[in-house]
Amino acid sequence: LDVFERCEGFLEARHAQAAGIYPYFLAFDDHDAATARLNGREVVMCGSNNYLGLTRDERVLAAASEAVGRYGSSCTGSRLLNGSLRLHEELEQELADFFDMPAALVFSTGYQANLGAIAALAGPGDVVLVDREAHASIFDACRLSRASMRVFQHNDPDHLRSQLERRPADVGCLVVVDGVYSMGGDVCPVPDILEVCRQYSARLMVDDAHGAGVLAAGKGTCAYHGISGEADLLTLTFSKAFASLGGAVLGQEQVIHYIRHHASSQIFSASMTPSSTAAALAAVCIARREPWRAARALDHGSFMAAELARLGLDTGRPETPIVPVRIARTEATALAWRALLDRGVYVNAVLPPAASARLRTSYTAAHTREQLQFVLKAFAEVADELRPAEPASA
Ligand SMILES: Cc1ncc(COP(=O)(O)O)c(C=O)c1O
Repeated sequence: LDVFERCEGFLEARHAQAAGIYPYFLAFDDHDAATARLNGREVVMCGSNNYLGLTRDERVLAAASEAVGRYGSSCTGSRLLNGSLRLHEELEQELADFFDMPAALVFSTGYQANLGAIAALAGPGDVVLVDREAHASIFDACRLSRASMRVFQHNDPDHLRSQLERRPADVGCLVVVDGVYSMGGDVCPVPDILEVCRQYSARLMVDDAHGAGVLAAGKGTCAYHGISGEADLLTLTFSKAFASLGGAVLGQEQVIHYIRHHASSQIFSASMTPSSTAAALAAVCIARREPWRAARALDHGSFMAAELARLGLDTGRPETPIVPVRIARTEATALAWRALLDRGVYVNAVLPPAASARLRTSYTAAHTREQLQFVLKAFAEVADELRPAEPASA
């Protein structure tokens, strides 16, 4: 049997491309935080994670180009061997300080940070309990770790408790949640989850990819709940609010020291580039000094959630700049995505199994109210396709 055989039979994407309703891998001509150009045409960008609007900030760009001038384009090796710079350590110091954690370790992506931390800490014989809607990198990390993986219902501390009650005696337990869920925009009830973890001597890791830089004046989901610094481990990405590329794990000094020496996703991969590191450091400093950015993104999120719900659309109950529009008929998703694009609005089309069918919209401090009104007008025009079916009358 030829392993390439399955490629020949993979035709779904080609059919969607031919029909003009293929919502993935679109190549933009360029983009800033609030808009993008696609085939020469401007669209309002409601499908990024650029929450603070910093990807074109002069200070971020200057830091990145200064780092290229000083250190060159690449470290050409892993942190362990030749790829460590003082700049990486400065960023780690800044993160530990901002997020009230004793120590931090940066990785080349957030995906690698999750992979590295989980697979370093958990192994055969341990149990990792994961929220059903946690990020794919966490599930991949569990497989890599060879620990036994259990899934608990989304944001449900009682279900977590029942899973922990049934765990075998004397096994190590790591519980992993997202701080903010990327597809629903909802916030994890971290204090309730943490209480259950403490009760059963399980360690808690919070992936705050979408909460850091945004909630609680940028300090993230734990600070939002008034328990800053209390989760055992925090992972972050720089590819969202922090306008760069890379990720980090934060925790106790000895735990970070251990991860540094056992995380294969870091040891066997080149370190963050100088420009990414400097851009992330500049963005974290700006997020700290300019909390109005996070406030504005949150304000846009709650405005859009309320207005989209007024159109009769099912947005769930997002509390962040991520506002999903759930679609009852999966087949309508790509058509609705295309109809919005034709009206000058770019959103993310999400299909099962990634999550139930939805258009994921997200907002940034860089959007203006006029742009949001433009987006709402486009949604109003396509709303008939998106509304949940009326309940049958008695
Ligand atoms: C919750 C969550 N964790 C981790 C990641 C991975 O981050 P990165 O893009 O830095 O690899 C993402 C990105 O989509 C995410 O949404």
